[in-house]
Amino acid sequence: MGLLDGKVAIVTGAGHGIGRGHALELAKEGAKVLVNDLGTTLQGEGTGRDADLTVDLITARGGEAAANYADVADYAQAGEMIAQAVDTFGRLDIVVNNAGIARDATIWNMTEADWDSVIRVHLRGTFCPTTHAVNHWRELSKAGEDVSGRRIINTTSGAGLVGNFGQANYCTAKAGIAGFTQTVSLEVFKLGITVNCIGPAGATRMAASIPGAGIEAKEPDEFDEWNAMDPSLSSPLVAWLASDKAGHVTGQVIRAVKDEIVLMEGWRNGPTIRKANKRWEPAELTALMNADLFGCRAPGLRY
Ligand SMILES: NC(=O)c1ccc[n+]([C@@H]2O[C@H](COP(=O)([O-])OP(=O)(O)OC[C@H]3O[C@@H](n4cnc5c(N)ncnc54)[C@H](O)[C@@H]3O)[C@@H](O)[C@H]2O)c1
Repeated sequence: MGLLDGKVAIVTGAGHGIGRGHALELAKEGAKVLVNDLGTTLQGEGTGRDADLTVDLITARGGEAAANYADVADYAQAGEMIAQAVDTFGRLDIVVNNAGIARDATIWNMTEADWDSVIRVHLRGTFCPTTHAVNHWRELSKAGEDVSGRRIINTTSGAGLVGNFGQANYCTAKAGIAGFTQTVSLEVFKLGITVNCIGPAGATRMAASIPGAGIEAKEPDEFDEWNAMDPSLSSPLVAWLASDKAGHVTGQVIRAVKDEIVLMEGWRNGPTIRKANKRWEPAELTALMNADLFGCRAPGLRY
């Protein structure tokens, strides 16, 4: 008995790396998987049939899978991908938005194309499958079907949550995905659909591209014992979030890195100053901001 017996999942960008790990894990837990991948380079150039590689691995292990080669940031192609899952496997329960690219550069070297393509793949690439899946489930709900238990699982990054030198495009997109998760989770709450966001890690080609990191890219199926760089270490969390056991968890950002699973708690109200129904004067803020907000007497931020 698997945690996901009878479920149908789509995993985007699942030809390689972290997405491949998710697809293998969901299949191991009994889900039928539509493996999406456009087959691009890390920079988002070119196309290929890389989804087939993961489909072959799943079927060789006795699971059920089919390939999809859509560009997930293309609205029409993302809609066709949702339809393919339903046509092929009879239903759709889980969408894991994982596809991504990177084009790192400092803000002064970042080209318009670097910015636009990274924002497009991560943000449109999360929006397009999500809106089509939610509309499909809303139609079912209107026709009287109980759609509770359906799942959206998005992908952020530690870099997007705290910032990272040389990745303004990527970090902006990844922070946006966390915000998208929170809002969409509220919108579909009444339908019993959950929307969460994971922050994975692993020695994929994306991680290997970080200058000086000394990381060699490896696929999840190339690790046969526990290794802190295995790109599939967040996949058990994805399988659990996708299951009926996680119906009470929504709108969350959870990082799964190495052997840790960390609930992220960001952007809470911190130290506050108040002036009873009166407008602040800029000059009076110097002392108050430094002492009461930043906790220091001298000007300057707490870094
Ligand atoms: N590797 C890490 O350490 C790390 C850390 C945090 C977050 N992430 C995130 O994890 C996700 C997977 O990254 P990875 O490291 O496995 O990278 P990867 O490059 O190994 O895999 C990404 C896959 O997405 C596919 N893809 C790219 N654009 C696509 C598109 N428009 N439509 C469909 N497929 C597309 C690529 O062909 C590729 O197979 C990304 O969202 C990435 O930002 C990775």
